[in-house]
Amino acid sequence: MKYDFCGKVILASGAASGMGLLACKRVVEYGGSAVMCDISEEALASAVAEVNSIRDGAAIGVKCDVRSYEDICHARDEAVRVFGRIDILAPFAGGAELRMLKVEEKDFCKVPIEVYDWGIDVNLKSQLYFDHAVLPVMIEQKSGTIVHIGSVTGEEGSWTVVAYSTAKSGVMNGLTKSIALYAAPYGITCNCIAPGPVLTRPGMANMKTPLGRAAEPDEIVDFLLYLASPEGSFFTGQSILIDGGRSIMHNRSNGQGR
Ligand SMILES: NC(=O)c1ccc[n+]([C@@H]2O[C@H](COP(=O)([O-])OP(=O)(O)OC[C@H]3O[C@@H](n4cnc5c(N)ncnc54)[C@H](O)[C@@H]3O)[C@@H](O)[C@H]2O)c1
Repeated sequence: MKYDFCGKVILASGAASGMGLLACKRVVEYGGSAVMCDISEEALASAVAEVNSIRDGAAIGVKCDVRSYEDICHARDEAVRVFGRIDILAPFAGGAELRMLKVEEKDFCKVPIEVYDWGIDVNLKSQLYFDHAVLPVMIEQKSGTIVHIGSVTGEEGSWTVVAYSTAKSGVMNGLTKSIALYAAPYGITCNCIAPGPVLTRPGMANMKTPLGRAAEPDEIVDFLLYLASPEGSFFTGQSILIDGGRSIMHNRSNGQGR
């Protein structure tokens, strides 16, 4: 086996679909257990069933709106009650506010402010909430790995999804570095994976990269598994862009490219 997660537990949000679901599947395939959180109860039930078909009883689902600190504490408590520990925290829930809330308007000043509240709450505050709720469990264990989820949009900026870019930037920089500093004395690491376009939906194939393609979800999730494995244990406080070079595309117009 490439990784050994026997006896290890992942707590992931946004686990009803995309990379959150895939990360739970992979941890279970490598012998571990998964606590799967999502706001969408129906999608979560079928995702949990899919993961449990790999190994019966390896996963539980907890309905959780990541905007609620209470819901997050409940998910943590369920993880400890059922599996007794949390080794990997992966707060995948997130997305660009205009797409997620189906807002057609693109002009920043014309989009209602509540849309940006949602973008900040789901993409930034929720990851801080998860860290605050789960770290005491990891501190007692004297072990654990937090893998925040950023985005190349947090590096590039965006004139449309302003809250998404702002939130992911905050996660990739201040939050990841601060939590890494706080957690290091307890043997806990904290890093951030910041993907470019990922084929969790077909539309992402249209987002340009120098490599001329979007990533397969496994190309992102595999690095999370590496960070959570003993081989990745000396990484902390880092935000790693996995973006096919998208964040350096502008260098081509600086006379350095072809
Ligand atoms: N797919 C990409 O190209 C890409 C690129 C860069 C970054 N990312 C980031 O990676 C993460 C996962 O992306 P994906 O494409 O796999 O996701 P996805 O869109 O497939 O899934 C997101 C999940 O989050 C859940 N969710 C939404 N609001 C929630 C809330 N308030 N509480 C709990 N759950 C909620 C949804 O129900 C859904 O199951 C996101 O944070 C995203 O911003 C994705």
